[in-house]
Amino acid sequence: MDRIRIVGGNALNGIIPISGAKNAALPLMIASLLTSDTLTLENVPHLADVEGLIRILGNHGVDIAVNGRREHQDGSYSRTVHFTCRTVADTTAPYELVSKMRASFWVIGPLLAREGQARVSLPGGCAIGTRPVDLFIEGLTALGAEMEIDGGYINAKAPKGGLIGARYTFPKVSVGATHVMLMAASLARGTTVIGNAAREPEVVDLANCLNAMGAKISGAGTSTIKIEGVTSLSGARHRVLPDRIETGTYAMAVAMTGGDVTLSGTDITLLDTAIEAIRRAGAEVSAVEGGIRVIGHGDQIRPVDIVTEPFPGFPTDLQAQFMGLMTRANGVSHVTETIFENRFMHVQELARLGAKITLSGQTARIEGVTRLRGAPVMATDLRASVSLVIAGLAAEGETMVSRVYHLDRGFERLEEKLTRCGAIVERITD
Ligand code: EPZ
Repeated sequence: MDRIRIVGGNALNGIIPISGAKNAALPLMIASLLTSDTLTLENVPHLADVEGLIRILGNHGVDIAVNGRREHQDGSYSRTVHFTCRTVADTTAPYELVSKMRASFWVIGPLLAREGQARVSLPGGCAIGTRPVDLFIEGLTALGAEMEIDGGYINAKAPKGGLIGARYTFPKVSVGATHVMLMAASLARGTTVIGNAAREPEVVDLANCLNAMGAKISGAGTSTIKIEGVTSLSGARHRVLPDRIETGTYAMAVAMTGGDVTLSGTDITLLDTAIEAIRRAGAEVSAVEGGIRVIGHGDQIRPVDIVTEPFPGFPTDLQAQFMGLMTRANGVSHVTETIFENRFMHVQELARLGAKITLSGQTARIEGVTRLRGAPVMATDLRASVSLVIAGLAAEGETMVSRVYHLDRGFERLEEKLTRCGAIVERITD
């Protein structure tokens, strides 16, 4: 199994190209199930999760053609992928596939809308929490679907003539359930109005792509989304939006190590709340042409309290990284997680590097230390593992991160991007 070896202590200087967003690419790829035409996606990141979903979609009958990567001057790649689902080959998403990647559960929306039925395995729990699917069941039921749980699977059936538009308000904000409702309601008869919808930029990206395919969606990015159903969708060409979590991760890395880095191909407005927290911690962050410039001052990190919330609040997917940054602040900070109940697995591993963190319920109290020391640590989930990389970059000596496959799910060419900016990071393949 691969490991990542980091020798900490170097400031980061240079350019880091930001990839297309994993969490936008996944629902966009799934939207290809809604049409028999070709959906072309540009800026698709090369990640384990994307490759996994390509295999899953292949199972449902999606034909996939990948256009070679093109390298740009700043070291960035651009990958264009064509998805064509002439006919749906299989409306079942089996446990073996759905249990590996929760987002593959979302195929339930387009399969139900296009084929009138779907049999999709329940995804089960995962490392960061129980993650139920009640909101998907309620939402699709509101559109007239019969939803039955049987043997670990959801059997979903649309009424004769297809799903029917309806008003439905989520009792809790869910990104995935909002994605699924957008896809399902696009092909329903009549108008759907979703209340308490997720406002994440990835939801807006999906709505824009669906509209380019002929859907009639308005209000994406607000809590109320209106979808006027259409009888069919066509192909389209769409560019995946930049990864705001990758952007925030590298910005926090620079704030921690010190240095001067331009994050290219990204957009500061995608992560206002996180940028504000990074600035309060002492780094200078500004919008520049085609990206964001971050100047970090290493040793002078100020303590900042954060609470994770649905967009536009502080993203849960940046919580672990921000905690990494706070381990070296000049004082005490608090990090409160409100989205997932078990998203503190990085705490024990950060402690191995010398961090002083105590947990009380959903809040971590972090007492900043003047230095961290390298140690062997273990990646536990995607975002937790990158917080260990960030901490390792600022620690004295060698940090060895094992179980790197977690990182490969969501960070494209991480070691190459950091190395180009002066970090000592290498992948060790045993
Ligand atoms: C998306 O997951 C992201 N995944 C997650 O990123 C991200 O952490 C999360 O949104 C929150 O921003 C992708 O986009 C692929 P939710 P999702 O439904 O859609 C509860 C990463 O590291 N809930 O918004 O699965 C749920 O348990 C990943 O890239 C229900 O109670 O998250 C959680 O507490 C991790 N019932 C809360 O809602 C439901 O039916 C928000 O989850 C559905 C969700």
